[in-house]
Amino acid sequence: MTPAVGADHEFHDPAYVADWAERFEPTPDRLALFDLMLSELRTRVPPAGRVVELGIGPGYLAAHLLGALPAVRYQGIDFSRPMLDVAARRLGPHADRVVFMRADLLADPWWRDAAGPADAVVSTWALHDLGAPAHVEHAYAGCAKVLGGRGLLLNGDFIKPDGTIHEYEPGRFTIATHLDLLRRAGFEAAECLRVFEKELEAPTPAQNYALFRAARRAGAAVAGPESDGEEGAS
Ligand SMILES: C[S@@+](CC[C@H](N)C(=O)[O-])C[C@H]1O[C@@H](n2cnc3c(N)ncnc32)[C@H](O)[C@@H]1O
Repeated sequence: MTPAVGADHEFHDPAYVADWAERFEPTPDRLALFDLMLSELRTRVPPAGRVVELGIGPGYLAAHLLGALPAVRYQGIDFSRPMLDVAARRLGPHADRVVFMRADLLADPWWRDAAGPADAVVSTWALHDLGAPAHVEHAYAGCAKVLGGRGLLLNGDFIKPDGTIHEYEPGRFTIATHLDLLRRAGFEAAECLRVFEKELEAPTPAQNYALFRAARRAGAAVAGPESDGEEGAS
């Protein structure tokens, strides 16, 4: 039987983390994901807004966003001390705008200690590691709490693509399931903005990821920098 598309990780092992960070320096495709997230934040989050990242890892997305959004304040959450150390080194130039929190997204009430209310929660390639749809729903519900009644959730994560003939690890599931979980977690306005590196025939574990955008209420996203009113999320 062919193995499920996915990967085993040792995120608490410093040597594994150093190797992972080197292997997954952002490719042009992943930079396109980061840029789409950046353009969403630019139009929907105030210039000095608060952004929380789940599963910050080596800090590649954070570096991209903090470099482009000079007044944003950022909180990076991860359960891996070695990952947080790598991220802290990478984000040194932005240290005055970044705080880190070590927390397990499954076991800890991280939303209580996160820097809320946040204007945006962002994440890439992380929530699938929670291992099951119910766990991702739990994380989405935490995001809803951190955001209060407003704000924006952007999750760029691995999916199980429609039309696949392959098995996927349980943390990777369809777009429709993600949208359903988001709505159940309290996000009335949820949609998939784009699928990246779609590959049905011979997928690697680093292909087939999608960007989900969600807001608590339809038409209740954060006001953009030039706006004095509310802006629709979909
Ligand atoms: C595949 S890496 C992605 C890192 C980064 N977001 C990126 O896109 O480069 C997944 C990250 O999620 C973190 N992570 C996995 N499960 C977690 C959990 N239960 N709680 C907190 N962090 C977790 C890992 O430590 C790791 O840093």
